[in-house]
Amino acid sequence: MKSKLKRITYKELLRKKKNNEKAVLVTAYDYSIASIVNNSPIDIVLVGDSASMVMMGNPSTLDITLDEMIVFGKSVRKAIRKQFLIFDMPFLTYQVSRRDAIKNCGRALKETRCDAVKMEGGKEIIDRIKAVVDAGIPVCGHIGMKPQSYKKYGGYPVLGNDEEEITKIIEDGLELQKNGVLMIIVENTTDLVVKYLKENLKIPIYSIGSGIDSDGQIVVINDIIGLYSKFTPRFIKRYENLSEKISIALNKYAKDVKNEKFPQKSKIPKTDRKIFLKAISKLKI
Ligand code: KIV
Repeated sequence: MKSKLKRITYKELLRKKKNNEKAVLVTAYDYSIASIVNNSPIDIVLVGDSASMVMMGNPSTLDITLDEMIVFGKSVRKAIRKQFLIFDMPFLTYQVSRRDAIKNCGRALKETRCDAVKMEGGKEIIDRIKAVVDAGIPVCGHIGMKPQSYKKYGGYPVLGNDEEEITKIIEDGLELQKNGVLMIIVENTTDLVVKYLKENLKIPIYSIGSGIDSDGQIVVINDIIGLYSKFTPRFIKRYENLSEKISIALNKYAKDVKNEKFPQKSKIPKTDRKIFLKAISKLKI
C-alpha cells in the first residue's frame, strides 16, 4: 500500500532534530529500488558514491566518475518525490579548486535536480565548501572517517579515539556549520564525539557506524537488504536476504524453462492456423 506523500523539506528535518525525532536515511542508485523507497518511511535518500562498489563492482569509491554518478542520480530522482534527495560528489570533483567545486556541484544539482550535494571533508577543504554554499548550492557535509581518503588511512578505521582525532572531528563539525552546511554525516566515529556534535550543533548530525546518539542513521541500502555480499560493514544489521531470494527465483525460472513450464500456455500468443498455412505454402525453401 502506498503511504501518503508528504514532502520532507529541510525545515521538517530541523523540526525532527528539535523534537528529538530520529531521521531515517538510506542510499539508492536506481529507479526500481528508489520507487520502493519513495513509498516508505525513509526521510532522506543519498545517491551515494558507494554506487561504485555496489552497482559497478569497483574496489572503492575512487573509481566512479561524475558522469556515471549523474546517471544514477537522474534515475533515482525520477522515483523520489517524497524524500529529501542528496547527491554524493565523487572523488576529485570538488577537492582540486573552488572553481571545479562550484562547476561540478552546480552541474550535479542542475542535472539530477537533487536537493543538496554531499562533500567529504572538514577544515582542510573549507574554502571549497564555502564557495559551493556561496554559489547557492545546498551542501551536506561528511566528516569522521572519509571513505574517499581510505588510501591515506590504509583502510576504513574508526576515528575519535585519541585527543587529536576527537578535536579534529568536532572542529570540522563546527566549521561546516559556520560556513552554511545544512547537515552532516559522521562516519566511523566514537559515540561521545557524535553525541557532542548532536548536542552542540544546530544542524542535524547523521551517523553511519558511529553509534546511536545522533539525529538519525544512514546505511547503504544493499547492505541491509542483503544485496551486496563482497563486504559487510561491522555495524550492519541485515533485515532481509534478497540475494538468497533472487537465487531461489532464478533456479525456479531455469527449471521451468527446461521443463517447458514457462511461459505458461495460456499466455502464449496464438498464430492463426489458416493464415500460417497460407504463408508457409508460399515459402521457397
Ligand atoms: O556513498 C555512500 O554510500 C556514503 C555513506 C555515508 C552511506 O557516503
